[in-house]
Amino acid sequence: MSWSDLIDSCGLNVDTKLIFIGGGNMAGALIKGAVNSNFITKEDVVISVRSNESAAKWIKDGFSNTFTDNNEMLKKFPHGVVFICVKPQLFGSMVDQLEEGILYSSPLVVSIMAGLSTDTLAQKLSQSGYSHSIVRLMPSTPCLVGASATLICYNSLPHNDRLSLVTSLAACAGTCTILDEKQFHAASAVAACAPAYVFLLIEALADGGVLAGLPRKDALNLATQTFQGAAKLVAETGKHPGQLKDEVCSAGGSTIAGVRVLEKNGVRSALIEAVKASTERSEEMSRMK
Ligand SMILES: NC(=O)c1ccc[n+]([C@@H]2O[C@H](COP(=O)([O-])OP(=O)(O)OC[C@H]3O[C@@H](n4cnc5c(N)ncnc54)[C@H](OP(=O)(O)O)[C@@H]3O)[C@@H](O)[C@H]2O)c1
Repeated sequence: MSWSDLIDSCGLNVDTKLIFIGGGNMAGALIKGAVNSNFITKEDVVISVRSNESAAKWIKDGFSNTFTDNNEMLKKFPHGVVFICVKPQLFGSMVDQLEEGILYSSPLVVSIMAGLSTDTLAQKLSQSGYSHSIVRLMPSTPCLVGASATLICYNSLPHNDRLSLVTSLAACAGTCTILDEKQFHAASAVAACAPAYVFLLIEALADGGVLAGLPRKDALNLATQTFQGAAKLVAETGKHPGQLKDEVCSAGGSTIAGVRVLEKNGVRSALIEAVKASTERSEEMSRMK
């Protein structure tokens, strides 16, 4: 279903727009993924950014409804589904600059900001007249290539199936998992922080290839394809990764010799501890805001 079909089935006005406050990397990836999947058209989208340079880029890309003034945008499009895509530390000042009650007619607000709970968001957004459900959407950088493991939670289920507006948008950028907000810190560690762990692992695997005599370019290509292929095998066979690991390790062979070194150096434990550290840091940061 396209955005226009969905808004109709959610009982919303036919010209309900997707309004993005912030048009940076993540908003750009979500918007472009949804346009490329034909879920939305460029005319469905309204964007605000801070600088004239960013606005000019969006307009050049065919997004004519681009603004550098949130109040002007929200007055012109008062009934849109609002996606807040600014950096979390700018959220408070951004809302403080909104005119009182300006979000009163918005049917749904969605935040992609890391670390800001629905309670914090609801409290702050109430000063702009918003009193419906708050949905949090947490994409990861692979959303730039349509391969995000996106997370979703909400403080109360948006009525009239309006959550489908968010899940359908997320589905254009990869997979989409709905969780209880209590699990959001841990899930963000595994889904949104862990791409950085995996980049480090790919780089290290390539370094190993270089040490063993491969040209850098070949080593990096092989390491990248190995991660892609292994992840695909887990996803498509449904086999436990431990079983797939056992299937590669022949008795007395070269693979088990390498696995032994990984275990001896605590790679398994390092990843477990990394997820724990990212989860705890995310909890700590949410308490600071
Ligand atoms: N990066 C990740 O892996 C990741 C994952 C999940 C969620 N997130 C969340 O995604 C959000 C955006 O991150 P990003 O990497 O896309 O940031 P970004 O590239 O820096 O984009 C931020 C955008 O916000 C605009 N902006 C700033 N203040 C504004 C205001 N008052 N009104 C309207 N627009 C304003 C900026 O405009 P200009 O372009 O003119 O400066 C820019 O377009 C963050 O909250 C982050 O926590 C990021």
